[in-house]
Amino acid sequence: MDTGYWSKRTFCLITGASRGIGRSIAVEVSKKIAPGSVVLLLARSKAGLESTKEEILNSNSQVDVLIEPLDLSIPDYDSFRTIIDSSFTKCGLKPTSFEHAIIFQNAASLGIQRGLKVVEINELKEIQDYYAFNLNSFILLNTAFFSVFDSINSNELLRTVVHISSGGVIAPFKTWGLYCAAKSARNLLLKSMALESGIQALNYAPGSVDTAIYDEAVNCTADTELAKLFEEDRKAGKVLTCEQTVKKLLKVLASQLFIKGEHVSYHDVE
Ligand SMILES: NC(=O)c1ccc[n+]([C@@H]2O[C@H](COP(=O)([O-])OP(=O)(O)OC[C@H]3O[C@@H](n4cnc5c(N)ncnc54)[C@H](OP(=O)(O)O)[C@@H]3O)[C@@H](O)[C@H]2O)c1
Repeated sequence: MDTGYWSKRTFCLITGASRGIGRSIAVEVSKKIAPGSVVLLLARSKAGLESTKEEILNSNSQVDVLIEPLDLSIPDYDSFRTIIDSSFTKCGLKPTSFEHAIIFQNAASLGIQRGLKVVEINELKEIQDYYAFNLNSFILLNTAFFSVFDSINSNELLRTVVHISSGGVIAPFKTWGLYCAAKSARNLLLKSMALESGIQALNYAPGSVDTAIYDEAVNCTADTELAKLFEEDRKAGKVLTCEQTVKKLLKVLASQLFIKGEHVSYHDVE
């Protein structure tokens, strides 16, 4: 049921929008939001962001699409805030121009290249680098995003954060310790945000989806049984397209049933 949720004039930020699930979120959200909305796309690859922008504009020329190449492995509140502030300047609008501010925290990395079990993790720098991207930037970007809208009354602006989570939060995968812990921490941070503020928060596990990360899961998972399972799921046609999982995500959001940081999986809902 879409209760007009998507027809609001929206300011939407998406991380990891250069490909995969993030690109699909950008394209599908842009088809739904009101004319005059703004979509801000972040990732490292400028070419990838440009191609997402082109795809959006092919189906909806009434939204403003801004791209900002950015490496989230450098957590920097001031530069995050500057990017968001300057997006208003670029499109000649103010935070008060919008009825809905929504951020999709989608970008992540697996951190499985060395194939380590948790008891084998022995390099501080590796841990720090992993969490710099997958946790510290997540926190600082949320703060930078919502601080822009601080002074706006909650009756006038709906605020939403969506974390693209993982089934690894419920049942951890062997040799994916850093990843599962980061996703769990991100889940709980959103639950805390929902408790502390009027911000609506959703942790959405997208299922197995045919993207570069899934390729990495198949090719780089050190636990051979798990790697085989990923490969077999793909062969059996159990891996979703980005469009399939994103369409369900947008339905879940529009239903407004899960707004307090619940963990919802693709497979939990019809
Ligand atoms: N695919 C699955 O089966 C699956 C299952 C469960 C959860 N997920 C989650 O879904 C989310 C999206 O992943 P995906 O499957 O769409 O994988 P993907 O196609 O590899 O996309 C990852 C995105 O993150 C961006 N990114 C990576 N490192 C970055 C950095 N340092 N700074 C900024 N952006 C960075 C990439 O862009 P650049 O390289 O251009 O920076 C890309 O746009 C992830 O959070 C993942 O954990 C995926």
